[in-house]
Amino acid sequence: MTAHKIALIPGDGIGVDVTDATMQVLESAAARFGFTLEPTRFDWSCETYLATGRMMPEDGIEQLRPFDAIYLGAVGWPATVPDSVSLHGLLLPIRKAFDQYANIRPHRLLPGVEGPLKAQGFDILCIRENTEGEYSGAGGRVHQGKDNEVATETAIFTRKGVERIIRFGFEQARARRKHLTSVTKSNAQKYSMVFWDEVTREIAAEYPDVTVSHMHIDAMAARMVMAPQDLDVVVASNLFGDILTDLGAAIQGGLGFAASANICPDRSGPSMFEPVHGSAPDIAGRNIANPIAAIWSGAMMLEHLGEKPAADAVLAAIESATAKGIGIRPGSHGTDAITAAVLAALEENA
Ligand code: NAD
Ligand code: IPM
Ligand code: MN
Repeated sequence: MTAHKIALIPGDGIGVDVTDATMQVLESAAARFGFTLEPTRFDWSCETYLATGRMMPEDGIEQLRPFDAIYLGAVGWPATVPDSVSLHGLLLPIRKAFDQYANIRPHRLLPGVEGPLKAQGFDILCIRENTEGEYSGAGGRVHQGKDNEVATETAIFTRKGVERIIRFGFEQARARRKHLTSVTKSNAQKYSMVFWDEVTREIAAEYPDVTVSHMHIDAMAARMVMAPQDLDVVVASNLFGDILTDLGAAIQGGLGFAASANICPDRSGPSMFEPVHGSAPDIAGRNIANPIAAIWSGAMMLEHLGEKPAADAVLAAIESATAKGIGIRPGSHGTDAITAAVLAALEENA
C-alpha cells in the first residue's frame, strides 16, 4: 500500500481548525481508496515564535525536505507577532526554498453557492507567480533624519522566473478552455511589466492553439466583477495574483471557499497546499471557520500525490455537501457541521 509522508503545519488561528477538518476528510479518503497518509505535525506558529524567538527551527527547511508534500493551515497572529516577522519566518521561506513557483488557485462557484455577484459560469484558474516579483524581499529603509526617510521595495522579475510561470499558465490553458489572460500594469510600470508582456508574447508563439489577452490589473479587477464568465486561465505576478485571488474568493462566496497549491513543478522539493485565507483572528477558536477551502486544498494535494480518484471523490463530497445547502453562506453552519457533511457525502458516494 502506498504511504504518503505529509508535513502538517496547522499554524495559527483558524489554521488549526481547518487543518484538523481537512485531515479527517483526507484520512477517510485514504482508507476508502487504498493508500495511507503518514502525517508528521510541526507546531510552528506565532506561539512558537514567542516561546523560542523563531517561527521554525534553524533547520526547519531541511526537516521538511524529505516529505512528499506539506500541508499548511494559516500563519499569522498580528496582535502578538508582526506579520513581517511571522510570514517571513515560515510561509514565504518555504515557498522560496522549495522553488514552489507556481501557485494554482481555482475559483468557481460550488453547487448551491451563489456568491455576492451570482456570477453564473464563473470558473477561472489563477496562476500566480510565487517566488519573485514584488515579494523578492529586496529593498530597505534609509534614514537621513525623519523628514527624509525613504523606504524601497524592489520588484525583481527574472527571465527564467517569468518564462516558467507563463509557460506553466499556457500548459494549464491547454488542458482547459484554451484561453490565457496575462495581467500586468505595463502602462505604469515600464520595466518589469513591459518585460513580462514581451516574454508572454514570445511564449505565446509556442502555443498557437491558446488565445491570449493582455489586461491591466485595474481593468482586470473590474472585469472579474462585471464579466468574469469569459475568463479561463489568468496568469499574474506575485502581488497582483495575491490580490486577484482574494477577489476570486469573494466572488466564490467568501474566503472559506478558495483553495491553493504552491507547486514545485520539477519536484526537486515538496509542494505545499494551503487555503487562500489567513488565520482569521476575528473568528478563531469559535467553530465558525468554513473548512471547504482547506479541504479542497487537501484534494489538490491528493491529486499531486497521484491519488486522482481520491481527490475527485473529496471534491465531489464537497460539492454534494454544498448542493444540500451545507456551508453555503457565511455563518450558516459551523466548522464541525460542514466537515461532518463532507465526510458523510464521501461515505455515501464512494
Ligand atoms: P484572513 O484571510 O485571515 O481573514 C479575512 C476575513 O475573512 C476575516 O473577516 C475572516 O474572518 C474571514 N475568513 C477567512 N477565512 C475564513 C474561513 N475559512 N471561513 C470564514 N471566514 C473566513 O485575512 P487577514 O485578516 O488579512 O489576516 C489575518 C492573519 O492571517 C494575518 O496575520 C495575515 O498576515 C495572515 N495571513 C496568512 C495567510 C497564510 O498563512 N496563507 C494568508 C492570508 C493572511
Ligand atoms: C496568501 C497570503 C500571503 C501572500 C501572505 C500571508 C504573505 O496573503 O497566501 O495569499 O501574500 O502570499
Ligand atoms: Mn493573499
